[in-house]
Amino acid sequence: MLEAKSIDLKYGAAHALRGVDLVAEPGKVTCVLGRNGVGKTSLLDALAGQHPVSRGSIVWEGKNITGLSPADRARRGIAYVPQGREIFPLLTVQENLETGFAPLLRRDRRIPVEVFELFPVLKTMLGRRGGDLSGGQQQQLAIGRALVMRPRLLLLDEPTEGIQPSIIKDIGRAISFLRSLGQIAIVLVEQYLDFARELGDHFAVMDRGSVVYASGRAELDDGELRRAMAL
Ligand SMILES: Nc1ncnc2c1ncn2[C@@H]1O[C@H](COP(=O)(O)OP(=O)(O)OP(=O)(O)O)[C@@H](O)[C@H]1O
Ligand SMILES: [Mg+2]
Repeated sequence: MLEAKSIDLKYGAAHALRGVDLVAEPGKVTCVLGRNGVGKTSLLDALAGQHPVSRGSIVWEGKNITGLSPADRARRGIAYVPQGREIFPLLTVQENLETGFAPLLRRDRRIPVEVFELFPVLKTMLGRRGGDLSGGQQQQLAIGRALVMRPRLLLLDEPTEGIQPSIIKDIGRAISFLRSLGQIAIVLVEQYLDFARELGDHFAVMDRGSVVYASGRAELDDGELRRAMAL
């Protein structure tokens, strides 16, 4: 279980997060919603250790990880699929996947078969350069790379951004499958509300660095959710 409590994050004098609380549990999808620039990526950066928090704490599997580096968090099973995918354009698909080995012990350095079951296109393109893939294929590669480390916490930043509908469906199916395994806690940042609505167990809507609406799936009020997103 992940518990972020009262997180503040600053870029110099600019306050990007203010008192954010977030929970993610194995087998559940926590959706973080909100318009452009409200702090969604900053929150994932804080959880992954890409940017230090100035206040608050992040507890993962019962341990306080607030001060740990991104590499140490990866070794504790935290994988980050960043916005814009950030695959290596000059490396092949295979090599891109193998960059996911970094946090693993040598004996665990294998690409799990599920990666190719979820995204068969990656298998057919193993020798191609990452930069030659379409945007949707690059997104599948970025998620595949994160799965190579067999994460227990998966952070996904707008995986549907700029992607064609057929691949959005594949990505939705992949997230559903990972959720159904019951072992991985997933934090999904999205602006595509219908996509998030189908997958989410918990919802947090952000505005100007704060969570302005939070609800479980069962108690979710769609009107309030849409209102919070339109703030
Ligand atoms: N490295 C940075 N330095 C300074 N300000 C930043 C930096 N990164 C983000 N910001 C600012 O922090 C605020 C939150 O940005 P963030 O990227 O977290 O928003 P977001 O919700 O992910 O937006 P989007 O939906 O466009 O991806 C914005 O005002 C942004 O301009
Ligand atoms: Mg963002």
